Amino acid sequence: MTVTVRSFAKINLGLRIGAGREDGFHELLTVYQTIGLHDVIRVSVERGHGIGIRCTDLRVPKNESNTCYRIVERAMSALSAKGRVVIEIEKRLPVQGGLGGASSNAVAALLGLERALKKSLASEERLRIASEVGSDLPLFLVGGTVLGVGRGEQVYPLADLPALACVVVTPEVGVSTPEAFAEWDRELTVPAASDRMIELGRGLSAWLGEMYSGAPFRRGRAENPLLALVRAGIKNDFEQVVFPEYPELSEGKSALERAGAKYALLSGSGSTLYGLFASKEAGRAAVERLRRQGWAAQATVMLPRREYWKRMLG
Ligand code: C5P
Repeated sequence: MTVTVRSFAKINLGLRIGAGREDGFHELLTVYQTIGLHDVIRVSVERGHGIGIRCTDLRVPKNESNTCYRIVERAMSALSAKGRVVIEIEKRLPVQGGLGGASSNAVAALLGLERALKKSLASEERLRIASEVGSDLPLFLVGGTVLGVGRGEQVYPLADLPALACVVVTPEVGVSTPEAFAEWDRELTVPAASDRMIELGRGLSAWLGEMYSGAPFRRGRAENPLLALVRAGIKNDFEQVVFPEYPELSEGKSALERAGAKYALLSGSGSTLYGLFASKEAGRAAVERLRRQGWAAQATVMLPRREYWKRMLG
């Protein structure tokens, strides 16, 4: 039996980097949002043993460094399962693009594997295995609008933002996340990084309190939740280190803004840029305009949690 799973992408509605930690990671505060662009993962379990990765995209590793390989290896052992697992990755998302493609692929492989074996991991076990493989995996076990803290692996579902139209621009460069973090360290001192995290923490608490508590002081002030989030000071710190290195990316952001984006940002450490638009029509018009200017642009939509799960396994 082959199980087919859609592996959706994410964007970061904002991301702030804090101090470097003793384990080599950095403290993060981020709001993740799943979107409608996706890869397709097919999982089958045959007689024999081992793990096979199939993908026609030459940039995707087929060995034990592949995130799907790493998660399946852990899951087979945790489930005490036997057999040869074959994972086919139909790649549509950019590689090293800041859309979490490799992380999402791994989570889709895990969920597909559980279905194929008709066995389930306990949810804490699933989350533990996912966070071992990478900081960006656990968000895909939640979907929709997700708050990420710690190194990004501690995830909390937020009330979904509306399914806004989104345009994704994918320049032809791959940005290395560890190198972007290293550049950040060269530029910023630890005390300054910590202060900025505290400041954003306060901004986000205020945002969450206002948006979701139903507190009486905000009655009658139905504000756009995304605008309120932007006002909380959430932008992407990676822009500061990635844009000077790759000026093309900052041009992509400006092009999105000129094409009418209400909010445009680098996703993760890039190289993908995205813009949020007032309507699907506005998004589609922006895609046409951006393509005429030579940008690789695609229209999609922010994917709320229920849709995410329905379309992933549907
Ligand atoms: O967790 P993940 O494998 O995606 O991280 C890749 C690399 O990015 C880490 O080895 C580390 O160098 C860097 N990183 C970091 N702080 C984070 C997440 C990742 O420094 N919060």
